[in-house]
Amino acid sequence: MEKKEQLYEGKAKKVYATDDPELLIVSYKDDATAFNGKKKGTIAGKGIINNKMSNRLMARLEKEGVPTHFVEELNERETLVKKVKIVPLEVIVRNISTGSFSKRYGFPEGVVFDEPTVEYSYKNDELNDPLICDSHVLAMKLTTKEELQTIHDYALRVNEVLKAFWLSCGVTLVDFKLEFGRLADGTIILADEISPDTSRLWDAATGKKLDKDRFRQDLGGVEDAYQEIMGRLEAQLKA
Ligand code: CDP
Repeated sequence: MEKKEQLYEGKAKKVYATDDPELLIVSYKDDATAFNGKKKGTIAGKGIINNKMSNRLMARLEKEGVPTHFVEELNERETLVKKVKIVPLEVIVRNISTGSFSKRYGFPEGVVFDEPTVEYSYKNDELNDPLICDSHVLAMKLTTKEELQTIHDYALRVNEVLKAFWLSCGVTLVDFKLEFGRLADGTIILADEISPDTSRLWDAATGKKLDKDRFRQDLGGVEDAYQEIMGRLEAQLKA
């Protein structure tokens, strides 16, 4: 597969065209941003970890009935993916209160929900990715009713699969963000990435944060935490 022109450079990834119009190559960077780009830095080795982790998790999700953009890992930072048009929604699933949930509602952190929550943010950097309700998604025709139902059902399925998997690694899946896209024929599939940049992952025994919150909150040991969580995942996949 030949890598052709760069199509896009985002905060954490670059995207390249290939000689197949239906396939793209994503390349994961070590750059880290938080608070909508206001905090910038690098996390050495992060791109390698996020690439591998996202691919391992998406391969598992495929087996469990969630279609994804993952095609083939090309090297430690690059992966071949199906080309999609991204649905401009951040789909956030939560099992435990923290982050913007606690901030928005003045609700204590660390409360385990009886049922996971699903919420959407409208992907728009200028507007700071505002929270959006279903009827507004439909009013702006960001998705059809059927597509939104599909996205919601996939998001909960992803949570079930990943929550159980992370628990088997001794890790609590607190919350995470997903993005979906449409193939040329309109099929909705999971896209973007699933990594410690986009998930909150706490050691199940100690509560130690093993994700990007270490960078956001200047907790130190950022690189070590990424290595630790990847090590846990690989050990579990080998077991
Ligand atoms: O991270 P913050 O507290 O601002 O937002 P949140 O809504 O509490 O984030 C919920 C989950 O979605 C966390 O695991 C974040 O890492 C992830 N997220 C993300 O990956 N990208 C965003 N733009 C917002 C949230």
